[in-house]
Amino acid sequence: MTSLLNGLETTAQIESPKNLFQRIIGQDPAVSIVQSAVKQRRHVLLCGVPGIGKSMLAKAAYTLLSPPTQEIRLRKNPEQPDRPIVVASQFEGEQQKLDEVSENNFALYVAPDRLPVDVSIKMGFRCSRCGSLSVPSEPSCVDCGATKRCDWTGSDSYHGLFRMLDVVQEPALRTLTSLEDIAGMSYHVTYERYRDNEIAVTRRLLGNNTVSKMEKTAHDERVLVGRNTIRFIRVSGASHVELLGDIKHDPYGSAEALGMAAHLRVIPGAIHEAHEGILYIDEVSALGPHQSHLLTAMQDRSYPISGHNPLGSGAAVRVDNVPCDFILFASCNTENISGILPALRSRIRGYGYEVMLSSWMKKNAENEDKITRFISQTVEEDGKIPHLTRGSVEEVIRVAERMATQLDGQKNALTLRLRELGGLVRIAGDLAVQDDEQLVQTTHVKRAEVLSKGIDMIDLCSQSCKRTEPLNKDYFF
Ligand SMILES: Nc1ncnc2c1ncn2[C@@H]1O[C@H](COP(=O)(O)OP(=O)(O)OP(=O)(O)O)[C@@H](O)[C@H]1O
Ligand SMILES: [Mg+2]
Repeated sequence: MTSLLNGLETTAQIESPKNLFQRIIGQDPAVSIVQSAVKQRRHVLLCGVPGIGKSMLAKAAYTLLSPPTQEIRLRKNPEQPDRPIVVASQFEGEQQKLDEVSENNFALYVAPDRLPVDVSIKMGFRCSRCGSLSVPSEPSCVDCGATKRCDWTGSDSYHGLFRMLDVVQEPALRTLTSLEDIAGMSYHVTYERYRDNEIAVTRRLLGNNTVSKMEKTAHDERVLVGRNTIRFIRVSGASHVELLGDIKHDPYGSAEALGMAAHLRVIPGAIHEAHEGILYIDEVSALGPHQSHLLTAMQDRSYPISGHNPLGSGAAVRVDNVPCDFILFASCNTENISGILPALRSRIRGYGYEVMLSSWMKKNAENEDKITRFISQTVEEDGKIPHLTRGSVEEVIRVAERMATQLDGQKNALTLRLRELGGLVRIAGDLAVQDDEQLVQTTHVKRAEVLSKGIDMIDLCSQSCKRTEPLNKDYFF
């Protein structure tokens, strides 16, 4: 096999794979376990130090899942207003489509993919580069990795007459108002982010009376987890509410014609939003006692939603049997493994896999090529820094070797703590930009190595510099 480094002039010559699994460097055993686990719908515990690709693996796993087959809806229960009814409907073609924009009315809740493209970009749902959808809390696109640009103003207007009224430039708008012409009529439309996968859309025919809140709540059914929502749900440091859902408080409770009907106040938990998808829990041991609820949800594949604030009117409401048939991807730092509930670990071991990710790999030509490919990927993903010369790639590889020795005590090895190594590449790139260079040179990498050390290391370094000569004069500029 010929080495990638041989004959390489710059990292621009390397073509990065589009497939998310192929972009994962140095974790081949974990990749193959995860691939077969997802096909069999097994749970996975990913264990290892920070920044070695645990989240990347979980995201890649999501690409293997077939689209969901069910939509979870809630229906008003006239006999017991505080016990809304769950309907998990299989899709039946176009019949299931939500709130068509046809009547002189409003669409109550819609999924992000039903929004006009301009709106979905502004609200942080859609990537302006590749058009993929993801939750607004995700700052970059899950498909192409581009930073989401929510300040995009396209010329391609919706129905030819679409105009934005809100021009506030902020990362992702929660509410947005526009004037739209639909079938020759002018509407004043308000989009309001209700959850990460639902947007409340209120339309008012210009010249007509405003649609009142009361009319809005007259709907007897709503979508809790939509058909086209992204079912990769990431949770970290979860609260009860985030994980299991909640019921909003209404001072009038579910009283007919006064308060908001109970089914409209239900907030799904991450476990429900991940139905038929992947629930990714970062540092699962940090869930503490909530782990037992997670375990119950995994066993029963359904979990009730109830109000958690005992003083709120939501405490009186309960929705039973809300489906939550997810695949759990949990991550855990090696030293926190004892914080995982033994019953949860046993469940994962019994119905899935525990995978240990490595923090280093052997130093050989093949693995040096992998680091080279990683550098090229990093430059491409960043989009703001130049590519690296061959000499600077070799310098990064030397740093990777030093890191394996210093952090893992491994000789003749290369680090797989690639988040940190990526940080070094980005700093080197920034320095090259500062110097107006077309390519990142070896000196940039050397200077970046100093800058990329944590402040504690810099402090140590400067103290030692006071006592002796600088470690390497070239490093200081
Ligand atoms: N094995 C890898 N292959 C390619 N890139 C990687 C790898 N590991 C880390 N990276 C780079 O580092 C970034 C962070 O990786 P990731 O979020 O998957 O780490 P993590 O293990 O989930 O960390 P944490 O424990 O802090 O959540 C990625 O976006 C990617 O750029
Ligand atoms: Mg992570």
